[in-house]
Order: sequence, then structure tokens, then C-alpha cells
Amino acid sequence: MFGRAKKTVDESKILEALRTVEDPDLHRDIVSLGFIKELKIEGGKVSFKVELTTPACPVKEQLKAECHQKVSAIVGVEQVDIEMTAQVRRMNVGAATAVLQGVKNIIAVASGKGGVGKSTTAANLAMALKVSGARVGLFDADIHGPSMAMMFGINSRPEVTEDRKIVPIDAHGIKVISMGFLSGPDTPVIWRGPMVHGAIQQLVRDSAWGELDYLVVDLPPGTGDAQLSISQAIALSGAVIVTTPQDVSLLDARKGLLMFRQLRVPVLGIVENMSYFLCPHCGERTEIFRHGGGKKTSEELGVPFLGEIPIDPSVPVGGDLGNPIVREKPDSPAAQAYTAFARQVAAQLSMLAESGGKSLPHAPIMPGPIDWK
Ligand SMILES: Nc1ncnc2c1ncn2[C@@H]1O[C@H](COP(=O)(O)OP(=O)(O)OP(=O)(O)O)[C@@H](O)[C@H]1O
Ligand SMILES: [Mg+2]
Repeated sequence: MFGRAKKTVDESKILEALRTVEDPDLHRDIVSLGFIKELKIEGGKVSFKVELTTPACPVKEQLKAECHQKVSAIVGVEQVDIEMTAQVRRMNVGAATAVLQGVKNIIAVASGKGGVGKSTTAANLAMALKVSGARVGLFDADIHGPSMAMMFGINSRPEVTEDRKIVPIDAHGIKVISMGFLSGPDTPVIWRGPMVHGAIQQLVRDSAWGELDYLVVDLPPGTGDAQLSISQAIALSGAVIVTTPQDVSLLDARKGLLMFRQLRVPVLGIVENMSYFLCPHCGERTEIFRHGGGKKTSEELGVPFLGEIPIDPSVPVGGDLGNPIVREKPDSPAAQAYTAFARQVAAQLSMLAESGGKSLPHAPIMPGPIDWK
């Protein structure tokens, strides 16, 4: 006479199951991290959102699959719908917090020496974060060799609002401001240190960035006074150091680390550019230069290794045509490498924000004295 009573799934059972899913970067379960939102149960149908700390999470799909599997295993659950979302956490420090209200993270891309692919890395980092769904800005702070206008195909100058704010140029959905906007493309800039410092500070603060999850800053090459003062003016959340295999004399990377140590800016890690060559015809991998120095250096200095980017002839082509390779050829090995690297950067920032800035050494251990030769 009576139908079999249908088992109702109860919320606590679901949360209990989800408590066994751990974020591998943050080393805590996703329930106590507050990731589970809008949990709904209708008969055997369960739906919820998993709100990650970055849309560029490297383990997004893995976490989704694990949540699905764990909840599906509960007796009475017939259907599980999971939506992966993200709310980027704020990790910025000092003056920028007060001035750049809407900017959650400011990431500097730096290198010990010039020509290692810093601007290309910054452009593709910004692009990959944007593609993941984040709100991204790019500030080209390289006063002597600004290159972002070319890399993003920008021909116009930014407008100024009535309240005297500079409106960044929108390029492929990224808000771009370049020191090059202050001069013509062919005008070499001969400014002295304090003027550069002042101009950069003013430009970054007077720009209408709006709400940004990440502001990527392309620093001028080197680790001298100019870089120090720029980094101070911008108040960075973290820095990425770009090297090439032949450049990874431990010394160059150490100089970069020392600079950020003085500034108390956490080093998010090292990325090795032009790491190896993949033949576009047969796919064979050739390690033209001594490969692996970036990883070794990061291990020795106790900072994360963020990835290696192959040499790809399409990289300069995309750069010259205003289309970073992550957008131009998203399936190419170089674009995939940039994307994986960008996810590592986002993960490091999430970890920093979660630990209140304590998860990375502000002062990396420096083995031995620095030789400034
Ligand atoms: N992975 C790569 N494969 C092939 N070419 C690359 C790669 N990365 C960068 N390049 C090329 O190397 C050249 C130098 O790169 P880029 O301008 O990004 O270096 P940089 O470190 O910013 O230089 P600078 O110190 O002058 O600012 C560019 O022509 C760029 O297109
Ligand atoms: Mg550059």
C-alpha cells in the first residue's frame, strides 16, 4: 500500500563528503576553506558551486571531478551539478592598498638581465589570466623600452576623464597602460631616476583601473636603483623572475631575489624562458642551451619553480602582430606552457593571500655572499 520511503539526502552528509576533498595548494579541505556555496538538495538532485580563489586554478578540473565522485557515492544521490566559480583574494601591501583600491594583486615580472623574454612573459601571463576568466590589467613600467603597445597592437593614446583619470586602453580584454603612452614610439626617453620614479607612480595611481583581480607589471631589465624605486612606487604583491638557460648564472637570479628581499616583496618563483626547442615539423625536443638551470636555481634559493617555456618561432610573430601567442595559437606547446605557468603564479598568490603573506619567504635564504661583479 505504501511506496518505499525515498531516502532523503541530508546536507551534513554532503558536507562531510566534501570535507574529504583537499585543495592541494592550500592544504585544507574545501569546506573549511569556504569554497562551497549555494548547496541545494532537491530529492536526489544535489547542486552547489565551488568558489575557488582564482579562475586560473591549476587543479580546477581535478577538484571538480573529486567533488563529483565523492558526492555521487552518497546513498540517495542521483544527480550532481557542480559549477566552478572563483573569487580572487586580495594580496597587496603597503601604499597600493590605499591607492589602488580595486586592484587585488599586483605582480611584477622582472629579470636580472635584459632580453630574456620578460615583456613576452608579462604579456602572455596577463593574457592567460584573462582567458581563465580573471579581470586583468597590464602596466608597462619599462620607461626606456616600452613594448606593450606593440605586443598588444595598440595604436591609440588613452583618454583622460573629467576628473583627470587616465583610461587604460582595452586590448583583448586587458586594461593596458604603458610608459610609452607618455612618449612617441620613436622617441627615446632620457629621464633621470627620480623623474622616472615620480612619473611611474603618478601614471599607475592616476589610471582608472577599476576592479582588477591581477595587475601585471613589466619592469625594466636589471636590478639596479631604477627597478628598486619602481617596485617601491607600485607596492607589489609578488614578483616573478624570468631567466633563460644560459642566463641562469645563479648570480643573476640571486640579484633579483636580493632586490625583492630589500623591498620585502615575496618572490612567487622563477620561470625559465627559451628552455628548449620543439621542432614544429616532427615535434622533436632539442635542448639548445643547458636546460634545467631555472629549476636548479629555484631549488637552491628556496623559491618555487613556475615552469619552462619553449623557444617557438610563433612567439615573436605574435608579439610583433599585437597578438600574444596564448591568444593567437592557444593550442601550441608554447601557449600551453604559458598557461600552465600563469596557473602556478595564480596558485602562489592564492597561497600567499590565504596565509596572510606568510607562505613564501619574504627573505629567501641566500647561500653565501653576493658577488656583484
Ligand atoms: N619563448 C620564446 N620563443 C621565441 N622567441 C621568444 C620567446 N620569448 C621571447 N622571445 C623573443 O625574444 C625577444 C626578446 O623578448 P622580450 O622583448 O620579451 O624580452 P625582454 O626581457 O622584455 O627584453 P628587454 O630587456 O629589452 O625589455 C623578442 O623578440 C621576443 O619575441
Ligand atoms: Mg621588455
